[in-house]
Order: sequence, then C-alpha cells, then structure tokens
Amino acid sequence: MTPIESLTIPDAPTIARWRDDFPILRTRVHGKPLVYLDNGATTQKPTAVIEAERDYYMHANANVHRGVHWLSQRATRDYEGARARIASFLNAAQPEEIVFVRGTTEAINLVAQSDVRGRIKPGDEILISAMEHHSNIVPWQLVCEQTGAQLRVVPIDDSGTLDFEAYERMINARTRIVAVTHVSNALGTINPVERLIDIAHAHDVPVLLDGAQAVAHVPVDVRALDCDFYAFSGHKIYGPTGIGVLYAKANRLKAMPPWQGGGDMIRSVTFERTEYNDIPWKFEAGTPNIAGAIGLAVALDYVRAIGIEVIGRHEAQLLADATEAMRAVPRVRLIGTAQDKAAIVSFVHEDVHAHDVGTILDHCGVAVRAGHHCAMPVMQRFGVPATVRASFALYNTREDIDALVAAMRKVQEVFGR
Ligand code: ALA
Repeated sequence: MTPIESLTIPDAPTIARWRDDFPILRTRVHGKPLVYLDNGATTQKPTAVIEAERDYYMHANANVHRGVHWLSQRATRDYEGARARIASFLNAAQPEEIVFVRGTTEAINLVAQSDVRGRIKPGDEILISAMEHHSNIVPWQLVCEQTGAQLRVVPIDDSGTLDFEAYERMINARTRIVAVTHVSNALGTINPVERLIDIAHAHDVPVLLDGAQAVAHVPVDVRALDCDFYAFSGHKIYGPTGIGVLYAKANRLKAMPPWQGGGDMIRSVTFERTEYNDIPWKFEAGTPNIAGAIGLAVALDYVRAIGIEVIGRHEAQLLADATEAMRAVPRVRLIGTAQDKAAIVSFVHEDVHAHDVGTILDHCGVAVRAGHHCAMPVMQRFGVPATVRASFALYNTREDIDALVAAMRKVQEVFGR
C-alpha cells in the first residue's frame, strides 16, 4: 500500500522540521534572513551529513584498502558500505557498478575518455541536446577533436522542450553514444529519458544521463531506466562537495580501460606490465574522498527517509506557486516553460541585467544564481546573455517565494522606468 504521506503535499510544520535539520538556514545576510534559492548550484547540508564527516575524521580516519590495522579496516568498511547504500538508492544491480568520482563533470569525462574515445572513429557521431551543461558538451568536443568524430545536437523548442522527432531523425548507424541531461540546470526541463533510452537501445546505442539536477528531485531507478551510465554530484543532493558517482552497467565497466593510473587501481605492478584491479576500483586511482563518500551515503539516507516522491510533491507545488508569482511581476519573462519541469525558475527582467537583479536580490537576503549557468548555448538559443535562476529544494517555502517577489519589487524601484 502506498504510504499516506506520499500522497499528500507536506504541510508547513513538516517543512519547518526539515528546515531545522539545516543549520545554515538560520544565517542572516545583510541583516535579513537568508532565503536560499540557489540549490541548482549546490544544496545545503543537513546536520546528519555534517556530523557524519566530522565523525569520520574524529573516529575512523585511515586510508582504505591498504591497512591491516583496525582503523583502516573500519574506514574501508564505512567507505564500501557507503558504496552499497548508494547502489541501493539508485537500484543498481550491484555495488561494483558505483564508481566514486569528484562529481558529474569527472564522471562524464571518465566515460568520454575511457569508454567512447577508444571505440569511436572519424565520421562517427556523438548525440547530445541543445540544453546541456558545459560538462556534457566539452568532454565530447574533446573526444571529437581527438578522434575526428562529430558532435550532433538535438534542438529544443521555445519552451525548452527537446525536439523528440528531431532526436529520432538524428540517431543513426553512426551514433556511438547519446549523452543527455535528465533535468536541465538552466531551464528545469525534465527530459523523457525512458523514451530516449528505448530509441537509442533500438539502434544499439548506449545512453549516458547527466543526473546532476535530477537525482535530488525525481526518483531515479537505473535498472528501470535501463540507462548505461548515470552521473551525479553529491553536493546537489545535500551531500558534500568533491564527491560524485558514475553508475555504469557492470559489463560496460569491465570492458572499459582505466583512465587514470596510480595506487589502488592495480592488482600487481612490474616495470614490464601492470594488472588492473576489478571494477569499480580499477577507476579509483589514488586515495579517494573517503569522508565525502560516507557523507554522501548519509545524504541519500536522509532523502530516502523523507521520500523522494514527497520531496517531489512539495517542489512541484513550489514550482507552480513560483511560476504564477513570477509571471505576475512586471517586465519579467520566464525562460524555460516546458510542460514537464523540475523546480527551477529561470527568468530575465526586460530592463535590468541578470547580474544587477541578482545583486539587488542578494541585498534583500535572497540567494539566486545570475549568469549563463554553465550553459552558454542555452542562453544563445534564447537570445539572452544571462538569466536569473531561482532553484528550489526540500527546505524552501511559500514564504521564500514571497521574499523573492518582494525583492523583485525592489529591483523595479531601483531600476524601474
Ligand atoms: N551546475 C551548477 C549550476 O547549474 C553549478 O549552477
């Protein structure tokens, strides 16, 4: 039976309890209460995550996989335990399908260099979309420069929705990988990833999903999706910075060569020949971010305890309220109005540059991102130099939206005609 809580939108006391878990939300900036609406850039951390990192350094710090001593064994157990919990969160078939990386960017570069570069030829194609973050563009451009392959880009329409028919037309016998974002960081669009994967697999093409903006907001089940690769960053799902995950199907990881050499990724080394470690350690050269991995697992436990569907319902309500409220603000135009959206509201003010809007909002205590959002081609597509982006998370409230709207009135006062 579906738990009753997952069917309802969480009420104000519930959100207040969640907010209590995030000490930074009590901060005041410029004498005003912090209204944190820059969750697309990074989310805040609950006490449980902060304490987990502290606890690791207080009681368990040692290198992993290297020591016979008690502390090293404890650190190894905690680190590998974190991997298993992350695998379970994603519903991966086995913990060995989870490679720890620094973040989404490193995960995509790993796939580009280790998986794709070795099997792509001049004239082959890599298919991405027009709403990608630079992290899902530049690694593929590098591979194209290195191999003579061609980058092809599926267009988006004026609402920021992927042109699915174009996608179907563009995928072909030369396509070697489809790499698309699950949720657009600049527009909020949620892509129809199941359908994209079905079509790609019908052409025998593997799919990488950039899950950086998705994993904290929509349920992700890598086996149900049947994606070949899924990349995300810990810090965008209430976890630490500098830790992220590449999920890949085990048979793919086994077939891929290592991309960095060093300690821990080997089984044996002589000057003549090196035998590599098993997956996933084959891809984890050097001492990893042990505390980060443990903190990330705690962050995912935190999300799981609340329920991603419950978070999704709350954020859907915030999106609806924020969209309506911002549409009513004079001279504001929303950029990214797809039907299926995560709680990201990108907008421009017709008379005021995004950076000026962001600065005034900051003076009102409202933290947003203003700029190109590491998605310059999206800005070019919409003919704007930059947008202001309010991006929401589980601890945001209707009052945060009211504060944003009030701060926009201030923008109007300062710059208005
Ligand atoms: N990729 C992050 C963002 O969208 C930094 O803000």
